[in-house]
Amino acid sequence: MAKINDNYLKLKAGYLFPEIGRRVREFAAANPEAKVIRLGIGDVTRPLAPAVLKAFHDAVDDLATTQNFAGYGPEQGYDWLINAIIDKSYKPLGVELKTEEMFISDGSKCDCANILDIFALDNVVAIGDPVYPVYNDTNVMIGRTGEADEKGYYKGVVYLPCTEENNFIPALPKEKVDIIYLCFPNNPTGTVASKAELKKWVDYANANDCVIFFDAAYEAFITNPEIPHSIYEIEGAKKCAIEFRSFSKTAGFTGVRCGLVVVPEEVMGTTSTGEKYSFNKLWLRRTTTKFNGASYPVQRAAAAVYSDEGWAQTKEIIDYYMENARIIREGLKEAGITCYGGVDAPYIWLKTPGGMSSWDFFDKLLKECNVVGTPGSGFGPSGEGFFRLSAFGHRENVIEAVERIKKNLK
Ligand code: MLT
Repeated sequence: MAKINDNYLKLKAGYLFPEIGRRVREFAAANPEAKVIRLGIGDVTRPLAPAVLKAFHDAVDDLATTQNFAGYGPEQGYDWLINAIIDKSYKPLGVELKTEEMFISDGSKCDCANILDIFALDNVVAIGDPVYPVYNDTNVMIGRTGEADEKGYYKGVVYLPCTEENNFIPALPKEKVDIIYLCFPNNPTGTVASKAELKKWVDYANANDCVIFFDAAYEAFITNPEIPHSIYEIEGAKKCAIEFRSFSKTAGFTGVRCGLVVVPEEVMGTTSTGEKYSFNKLWLRRTTTKFNGASYPVQRAAAAVYSDEGWAQTKEIIDYYMENARIIREGLKEAGITCYGGVDAPYIWLKTPGGMSSWDFFDKLLKECNVVGTPGSGFGPSGEGFFRLSAFGHRENVIEAVERIKKNLK
């Protein structure tokens, strides 16, 4: 009989969002009259920007003609998309990238998981706590960790607590690590890191031969002009950081699927015999072998985000979500609830009232307000006592959810 990958059996719980979905379905089946409002998973609700949609349609039409038909594209993405991203999204930040340093994918979740392929298993990883569960679980799946303890911490992983005391910005690790995951604006806490803060991490990584995995999936939601959008705005970052970006939240592509990874040529690792080797070369090798590229119409749609029209329309959608974030944040404050985030990020991280556990608050909110959020403890032990609300809902639902919370929880 074929043997399974036992590492999967170390995983403590099902993936967080399907588990929430299961509980909500159970509640809805038992309470068919309840109008449940979902502010749990960060899934977008606005339609694609008109310019993006038009490019998508046009690209599908291309497939109907012999002249414009597109078959296999370059595995790492079309140059016209990569160069549009570099010109519109990185150059204005003062960041110069080569076309060969960017790889287009079918989404950031896959990229965050797949990148582990090109790193040896005996690298020590440092992960925030709470954190986007994919970072932790994919390291368990690939076999980099031991078993979890009773709190949910896996042996072999260095966890970096992000708490109210440290403003949800972790302290540098005390032990030697090789890979550091950073996510800013942060999922789930909604906090951001200043340039000075990121400089500390970049300097640390360069001094200690670490690679930073910088998840910038929410950079488009930054409103404060002082906050960096890319880790490459920090001097020295091109030597030590791999950056992930996503079209999911930025351009409403959660169902369309498109993301990107930047692997600068200067980011080096060592072979088992001690020679330096470029991660860019390895990632290209991995990509060309295991991936056939994001689909042509999807890349055409993604490129339209960078047209003048698409850019302005996309910005309007982002502003819509950020207005939702403001409504949630202010409503929670009026209800006497302490909350963080929601200013430069589409997530609001609230402290459960009366020291309630995250899952107890989930149940209370679902039963009393018919509102779904995400329990903080689902993102890691240090998320216990916190709860995440997403700003990606329809405006009228957001307003109603906030009214219900104010009425029932004040
Ligand atoms: C979230 O709600 O944390 C995200 O939607 C999950 C994801 O991007 O995969």
